[in-house]
Amino acid sequence: MQEISPFFNKLVLVCVNDRTEKSSCAHFGSEAFADALKQQVREAGLPIKVIKTSCLGACHQGISMVIMRSNKWFTNTREGDIPRILEILQSTEQDSKTEIKTFENRIDEIFDELEITTPKKNCKNCNC
Ligand code: FES
Repeated sequence: MQEISPFFNKLVLVCVNDRTEKSSCAHFGSEAFADALKQQVREAGLPIKVIKTSCLGACHQGISMVIMRSNKWFTNTREGDIPRILEILQSTEQDSKTEIKTFENRIDEIFDELEITTPKKNCKNCNC
């Protein structure tokens, strides 16, 4: 097993459970809701992954979803709520302690691993 850096700052789990014997999120259109949310998160350029999942145990009121890391739970969500959800995702994004490790923000680590000394700007100890 190898631990890796997260690819996304947050995960949004949307229940798409479909039951015949009793009400479930799929009956409220959760597949279309999850697809629309995925699309709008992608268009907003947020480093967030929307995942379709099974029952979250809050099925009595409509489409259920959870924003992971923030542990914010919502039920009775509708496509009309997506702009508000994006606002919540963007505001909680600023609180995120997880830094997505792109090449640019790993450059010092990479140089350390390769034992390459990087010149410091405005260094007072040498003439670089
Ligand atoms: S069916 Fe969606 S939370 Fe249970």
